[in-house]
Amino acid sequence: MDKFIIEGGKSLHGDVYINGAKNSALPILAATLLTENEFTINNVPMLRDIYTMKDVLETLGVSISIENNIAYIDTRGAVGYEAPYELIKRMRASYYVLGPLLSRLGKARVSLPGGCAIGPRPVDLHIKGLEALGADVSIVHGYIEAYGDNLRGSHILLEGANGPSVGATINTMMASVYADGVTVIEGAAMEPEVVDVANFLNCCKADISGQGTRRIEIRGIKELSGCEYSIIPDRIEAGTFAVAAAITRGDVRIFSIEENHLDAVFSKLREAGVEITKEEKGVRVRMDGDIMPIDIETASYPGFPTDMQAQITSLLSLSKGVSVVREAVFEGRFMHVPELVRMGANLRAESDYVIIKGVPYLSGAPVMSSDLRGSAALVLAGLAAQGTTDVSRIYHIDRGYETIEERLQSLGGEIWRLKE
Ligand code: UD1
Repeated sequence: MDKFIIEGGKSLHGDVYINGAKNSALPILAATLLTENEFTINNVPMLRDIYTMKDVLETLGVSISIENNIAYIDTRGAVGYEAPYELIKRMRASYYVLGPLLSRLGKARVSLPGGCAIGPRPVDLHIKGLEALGADVSIVHGYIEAYGDNLRGSHILLEGANGPSVGATINTMMASVYADGVTVIEGAAMEPEVVDVANFLNCCKADISGQGTRRIEIRGIKELSGCEYSIIPDRIEAGTFAVAAAITRGDVRIFSIEENHLDAVFSKLREAGVEITKEEKGVRVRMDGDIMPIDIETASYPGFPTDMQAQITSLLSLSKGVSVVREAVFEGRFMHVPELVRMGANLRAESDYVIIKGVPYLSGAPVMSSDLRGSAALVLAGLAAQGTTDVSRIYHIDRGYETIEERLQSLGGEIWRLKE
């Protein structure tokens, strides 16, 4: 297993370009299963999770190649209806094939993803969405089996106890493009990635409106076309680089972003004393004073993203006071906390929040990644720490950040990959 060796304490300076959004690209690749056509998808990040989705699609019979961030996909011909455990266990988001397969074939059998390091990950809302369209859904031998030849438009309230679900909104939206009549999803997730999938489907001649609001309306159509489409920039990657600039007291320009997708993140960083100014096609992130303590609560979009919670916790570990970070989307998503403590951070996780007492410095230590964003937080802490940090199990970070070490090196970060 590869690891990162980081020599901390170097300020980051320079320009960085943000890649396409992983969380848009995954469902958009899966959505191509809806029809027998050819697609060109631009700005696809070259990531481990994307290659897992490629494997899933190939197992189902799709022809797909990805070169230079462009995916060429051919879904003509027969496709299978079963996504096996061996693939799904590598990446939960493989369940995005459920809606498209059900819609195209009238049946789908997709392994249940199970839990993951960030806590229990139920799929009840995905099932609720499909059942509301008239599908017969059951869980048999660890698989979700869904049958339904004639899906019908329906009025669906998809919100769960922890708020809207990105995955269930997208799966239901994909499943309903051919459903008879009109489908209305109330309590829909408003994340930019949901909007991106809807826009992709509309580019293929679907009839979806209301994306980006709590109420999405899908009018059933008879046939989708192929299309060429470009994925939006990854707001979490951009936010992570912004924290990298701030935590190293650096000066970094971040390009190829949708600034408005980062409103909540930039607003909290500014509150913590980070200077963020507009540039043509990007922003400049500078930090030279004290990091101020702030309180944060994660929420669905447009709130502060749970996928930035771990990274901002690293930053606040070095603030001049006490901060409280509440995780309201995924209970117990705090695996990075004990690792940061090993680096000298003064953190205490209690139920759904972390109390952070800022310390003047972190010190390098061997630490272990256990999930994607938590490992990003450890890399950020390592970049700021005194001495050497050794981050193991970095396959987690490779799931979501393309060539992260090379891009940090180009900004002056001293980080190397050690192949083991
Ligand atoms: C997606 C993102 C993930 C991000 C999360 C929240 C992808 C591939 N992953 O995950 O990076 O952290 O959105 O922004 O896009 N829930 C239920 N029942 C369900 C589904 C979800 O109760 O059937 C709950 C979850 O446990 C969680 C909340 O709803 O508490 C939000 O989860 P959801 O938006 O579905 O996350 P994902 O789509 O899995």
